[in-house]
Amino acid sequence: MLSSNPIKKSLNWLGRQLFNQENPAAFFDPLVTPINPLWIRGFTPAQVQDIITETADTKTFVLKPSNRWSGFEAGQHVNLSVDIDGVRYTRTFSLSSTPARWAEDGTITLTIKRLPGGLVTNWMHDNLKAGTVLGLSKAFGDFLVPTSVEPLLFIAGGSGITPILSLLETLEKDHYRAPVALLYFVRTQADVIGAERLYALRQRWPAFNLQVVHSQEDSKPVYLGEQHLDTIPGIKARLCYLCGPKGLMDLASDLLGKYGISDDRIRVTFFSAPAPVFTGESGGLVTFSRSGKEVEADDGKALLELAETAKLNPKYGCRMGICHQCKCTKTSGTVVNSLTGKVSSPGEEQIQLCISVPQGPVTIEL
Ligand code: FES
Repeated sequence: MLSSNPIKKSLNWLGRQLFNQENPAAFFDPLVTPINPLWIRGFTPAQVQDIITETADTKTFVLKPSNRWSGFEAGQHVNLSVDIDGVRYTRTFSLSSTPARWAEDGTITLTIKRLPGGLVTNWMHDNLKAGTVLGLSKAFGDFLVPTSVEPLLFIAGGSGITPILSLLETLEKDHYRAPVALLYFVRTQADVIGAERLYALRQRWPAFNLQVVHSQEDSKPVYLGEQHLDTIPGIKARLCYLCGPKGLMDLASDLLGKYGISDDRIRVTFFSAPAPVFTGESGGLVTFSRSGKEVEADDGKALLELAETAKLNPKYGCRMGICHQCKCTKTSGTVVNSLTGKVSSPGEEQIQLCISVPQGPVTIEL
């Protein structure tokens, strides 16, 4: 009889598993990983081709994603997945190479600084070799080249230069006509990341004004101030891009505001998870309306973590507010944005689960 056929039973079980999966990759990947990492569906396999030392604590990893990878735009990020002692870790990094390079030879680069105590970045620096296969997500992020031609000002700090390298080289290749300025803050000259690329850009692109500021070369630290911004011609008309440590970005946003540059003319991205600014009271009953699950919120946990506690499997990417992949509809209740401290309205709206902390009872369409 068919029903007692073990093969048929197995296929039925497999079908049920897949049917119940919102994301079949989450089911298949753990099964195929030990057999051949190139079969992973949740991430695109990408092979390490080369490793280039940029500074004492920063390396550029040249990767070749498999053909199914869908590409990227300058200024975007990817999630990178690595297996360390049998445990998979995923981190977000920005792409430092250009889409033109990928179109030409199929390679991309990630320029990564060792983070003090950082498990993944230190492991990558110490263990990655040419030939290793890593997992790559689709590219995401809206830190992109402008849609119209206008004067630009980039302000970068440390490894915040990585998406900006990609943007600058793309603009130059596309013969961007308006003036472009970069204020790049590094501790010392030895900490300049992408030095060759930046100085070569300055050589061949007359519209490009590069200023490298050494913040810790003298006994007195140097901070971004009016003495730097006043050197940028026509600063008030510039569209501004910021990427660097939170302190530098906050300072830059404040100063640019004083120059009359409105928030919608300032584009910001993070190169590592920014520290939450919200530490106030939180909590309440969270109802996930589609699944019928409920969980009591506590400890300032964001909704993504709470949903996972309730054994739900919501979509996510960066887990730090950049990629918008965790967007969901809140149908009632109030949440706080853990990065900005901004409180939502009580009604229906789209929220990012990874940075939304409930303040009282909340209902989410999940
Ligand atoms: S997971 Fe990327 S914004 Fe929430």
